[in-house]
Amino acid sequence: MDLTVSRPRRLAGEVVAPGDKSVSHRAVMLNSIGEGQARVRNFSPGDDCTSTMIIMRALGVNIDRTSADGDSGDTLVIEGAGADGLREADDVLDAGNSGTTMRLMSGILAGRDFKATMTGDSSLQSRPMGRIIKPLSMMGAVIRGRENNTLAPLEFDGGELSGIEYDLPVASAQLKSAILLAGLRAEGETRISQPAASRDHTERMLSAMGAEISVDGLDVTVGQSDISCIDVDVPGDISSAAFWIVAGLIHPNSEVMVKNVGINPTRAGVITALQDMGGNIELVNERDVAGEPVADIVATSSHLRGTELAGSIMPLLMDEVPIIAVAAAMAEGETVIRDASELRVKETDRISATVDWLVAAGVEAEAREDGMAIVGSGKIAGGTYQSQDDHRIAMALGIAGMVAEGPITIVEANCASISYPEFWDELYSLGGVVD
Ligand code: S3P
Repeated sequence: MDLTVSRPRRLAGEVVAPGDKSVSHRAVMLNSIGEGQARVRNFSPGDDCTSTMIIMRALGVNIDRTSADGDSGDTLVIEGAGADGLREADDVLDAGNSGTTMRLMSGILAGRDFKATMTGDSSLQSRPMGRIIKPLSMMGAVIRGRENNTLAPLEFDGGELSGIEYDLPVASAQLKSAILLAGLRAEGETRISQPAASRDHTERMLSAMGAEISVDGLDVTVGQSDISCIDVDVPGDISSAAFWIVAGLIHPNSEVMVKNVGINPTRAGVITALQDMGGNIELVNERDVAGEPVADIVATSSHLRGTELAGSIMPLLMDEVPIIAVAAAMAEGETVIRDASELRVKETDRISATVDWLVAAGVEAEAREDGMAIVGSGKIAGGTYQSQDDHRIAMALGIAGMVAEGPITIVEANCASISYPEFWDELYSLGGVVD
């Protein structure tokens, strides 16, 4: 499905951010291997988290899903299977487009007393899996993958797990979490050292569920533990909210409020970056929801300046680079993004995908090996651009359409449903013109 977005005269209103994708994945996975029963409210409506839920059901976990009441998102009721309660699935497990599903589930499937095969779509089958197979194999798991154990489909075939000490080669929350989840069932302690902080939802949730886990700076240690189910109120997804925040900043006549946004410091790099660019962003009604900080965020028309993004802030905003690039194109001056080579192995190569459409839209932009440079001029030309079937590229293009000189047609716009099925309806409700 292709969609065309044109610039509204005014952009105003309120949006409730959909449930956070990362927290939703963890809430369903960890409660599935916990003892007891849990209710997960405001579960992410995106296809990625549905893939995780379906896999857990295929492994024998009883999960009931009831659809949203008003704007509160779906509710899941999960009967925890306990540490050793999962059973062999009848079929291949399908993680769809979801890297988080495949990598975290690998930590859960490692060293089980049954076999499992997990695959995904063509994008996921081309993303690096050697980074998880290596440490999980060091722990004793028997895992095989295509291309010399680097790519999915992956086959899991038992093994006895024991703890390891492991220096992560990249600041990846998915890799860290896969090892921590295997560590729950490994003999002895598992210690991970990170090169920089990445999102810490796994650590927070495991700790709330009673796991033996400790965090010391960039080191995380987990011991063999049984965990108890807990109810989770999923905060709104800052990665989804970021699209509306940038729209509010770059449109010349706007005021947008995004409600219920999770602002966990390991996720909120986008707020810092946009504020540094001169963005008028206000956090109101700050509160704590189930151990995660949450706020409502107001963004209004701003005169943005270019910036430099590099180093330890990068893992805290990596998913937001496609939309930050739109802000950079509308800002005055140059924005340089470095230390972002992880973008090359996301759902698409997001460095190429972003720079390709920016250049086609008349923006002075250059791809670099580990990032990009964008010279903002406040102008984006209308036209037809490829989402490359990547949800975050499609939504970034949608926001660009709200400020571009002419209408923007987004090829394969429906892929937004991976994280945000309501995105196009919300864009329309804020005043955007969608055909
Ligand atoms: C995620 C971690 C991030 C992020 C992804 C979700 C997670 O990837 O890009 O969208 O839920 O753990 P990394 O593993 O590269 O940190």
